[in-house]
Amino acid sequence: MEDLNEIWTEKYRPKKIAELSGQKNIKERLQAFANEKSIPHLLFAGTAGIGKTTCALALAKEIYGDNWHKNFMETNASDERGINVVRTTIKDFARVKPFGAEFKIVFLDECDALTPEAQQALRRTMEKYTKTTRFILSCNYSSKLIPPIQSRCAIFRFRPLEDEDIKESLTKITKNEGLELTDSGTDAILAVAEGDMRKAVNTLQSVAITSKKITNDEVYSIAASLRPEEVKEILELALNNQFMESRKKLANIMLVRGLSGIDVIKGLHKQIIEIDIDETKKAILIDKLGEYEFRIVEGGTEDLQMEAFLAQVSTLSN
Ligand SMILES: Nc1ncnc2c1ncn2[C@@H]1O[C@H](COP(=O)(O)OP(=O)(O)O)[C@@H](O)[C@H]1O
Ligand SMILES: [Mg+2]
Repeated sequence: MEDLNEIWTEKYRPKKIAELSGQKNIKERLQAFANEKSIPHLLFAGTAGIGKTTCALALAKEIYGDNWHKNFMETNASDERGINVVRTTIKDFARVKPFGAEFKIVFLDECDALTPEAQQALRRTMEKYTKTTRFILSCNYSSKLIPPIQSRCAIFRFRPLEDEDIKESLTKITKNEGLELTDSGTDAILAVAEGDMRKAVNTLQSVAITSKKITNDEVYSIAASLRPEEVKEILELALNNQFMESRKKLANIMLVRGLSGIDVIKGLHKQIIEIDIDETKKAILIDKLGEYEFRIVEGGTEDLQMEAFLAQVSTLSN
């Protein structure tokens, strides 16, 4: 029987490298390693939800087959105290001989959370056990890693997924789950996900709990996310000197729907870039937006700051 509580990001996680959507170059390079059943230390860099962990798991499965979990350890540098992970957990695993293979794999996620000292310890461990253990390090920013670690690894830069890649996965899942994915629903999920497959799949599953038909209305009500059209409307009202009306719509979004000032700023940023106004105005708006973002980050009251921003926009109206 189907487990209704099963998390789709696990259920639909590709088991083979070739099954991932997009990431073409990365897949080709990794497949070559998988075929050789041999890897150097690897460094996976990139934002969340784009296949780093999936590739590490798939690589292990392709190299070791059914016994993969005996030779593979996944650990997170930010969960536990980073230095302890390196000093004990990883060392204990690395010390034990590989099971019917040349080497084992340690997958260390979020390694850019390690302090420089912990990174030094990691580097020493990598060197000491290099005959029997390969490291796959995963991080958001490779620049946060000390150069001696970077230089010991083959670096893979993962990119946010293209809309087409996400569509491909969404189509597979909706077909298998017997859902109807409308075009508007697809566009809404893509807008919410912003290249992050985990976000896309989680959004789809949340919507599917209440509706077999996936439309933009359902997506936006679940995702507590801003619709591009509504941000555009707020911006246009302010630009047309309808400050009070614009402010009312903003209040509805922030107070009633509970979106943060930073969410609104991100939405506005996209719209300002896309909207049809002259370049000088665009530049002024982006500059102002940066200023208000700073104020919010520094602790300014969010709704007041956003109102003040709209007031500024109104002064630019024709
Ligand atoms: N390129 C991809 N093709 C198909 N599914 C993907 C892809 N990238 C991520 N996913 C899915 O998104 C979720 C998160 O992926 P994961 O590899 O854990 O991301 P991260 O880069 O944060 O490690 C998983 O369910 C995975 O199946
Ligand atoms: Mg991951």
